Amino acid sequence: MYILGMESSCDETSAAVVEMGDGVRAIRSNIVASQIEIHRLYGGVVPEIASRAHIEAVSGIVYQALEEAGITLRDLGAVAVTANPGLIGALLVGVNFAKSLAFANGIPLVAVNHIHGHVAAAYLAHPDLEPPFLAIVVSGGHTSFYEVKDYTDFSEIGATRDDAAGEAFDKIGRVIGMPYPGGAALDKLAYEGDPKAIRLPSPALAGDTLDFSFSGIKTAMLNYLNGAEQRGEEINRANVAAAYTERIVSAITQKAEAALLQTGHKTLVLAGGVAANSHLRASLEALCKRLGVRLAMPERGLCGDNGAMIAAAGYYRFLKGELADTSLNASAADDGL
Ligand code: KG4
Ligand code: ZN
Repeated sequence: MYILGMESSCDETSAAVVEMGDGVRAIRSNIVASQIEIHRLYGGVVPEIASRAHIEAVSGIVYQALEEAGITLRDLGAVAVTANPGLIGALLVGVNFAKSLAFANGIPLVAVNHIHGHVAAAYLAHPDLEPPFLAIVVSGGHTSFYEVKDYTDFSEIGATRDDAAGEAFDKIGRVIGMPYPGGAALDKLAYEGDPKAIRLPSPALAGDTLDFSFSGIKTAMLNYLNGAEQRGEEINRANVAAAYTERIVSAITQKAEAALLQTGHKTLVLAGGVAANSHLRASLEALCKRLGVRLAMPERGLCGDNGAMIAAAGYYRFLKGELADTSLNASAADDGL
């Protein structure tokens, strides 16, 4: 069946048509309109500007997705939309558009949790992937481990207690003058630096916990940069990128190993915008090879926010009969769904 997936939780307006069914998991279209250029001027996402940009883009993006897939509204088996978590004004645009489209055309509506959407991107990239597995979602808003027991049954077993890894990358990227969002730029620059050049605390919390804290490493790096500036020293940006990336990647890898050993899962799914980080992908690849665990990662283009991942997650909620109605509301907080 064909599912229209809609995503508008942050700074991408996206709509996609995905075909799902017995042995079929195929992306027929996946249109992503990024607002990055608009927000770059401010060094971060401005929520009110994001909402307005979603309003301007949403209708055109949805019809473009249908056209590119070569289908019409009549061919859709469901409309899936991100309902939480995210920026409330941004989410409301997608939710209200999806509600109107679904009810005006008699199409079933499914509400999707954004994090579950990121994990579902792995189903599209790996057609044979099935739960149960361990998932790690690393994005601008999340750094969390989940035991995915079934397609719609997630249980969080570890998470950051403060900032997310993506947020930590973006903050330091901005301070050293990289364009917003800094994550992808730091990824490249890190190859040119010495990871041992700067000593930093680990974001992996000590002990058996699977939790992280990224505020300490962020502050330590800011102090290093301020100190260097006060002493009039020139900053080696490549060393900053390399040391910061190494510390973050090794902390995530260390906790991923602990999570795999604690839970006994033999498959690890890496998802979320920061899953595009080449150092993290390589480090988890090496870990999984060493432990004999299957690593399933969406290709880098499917790691960031997109409608296809929402359609894929929506399909499994549809199969469970978990449909939404006109009372559906968006929520900024993660309500699990
Ligand atoms: O999942 P996503 O598109 O949006 C959220 O749900 O937050 O993730 C965006 C985050 C940003 O912080 C961005 O800098 C980061 O993903 N990111 C990366 C890379 N590509 C995107 N971080 C590190 N390395 C990358 N290659
Ligand atoms: Zn996301």
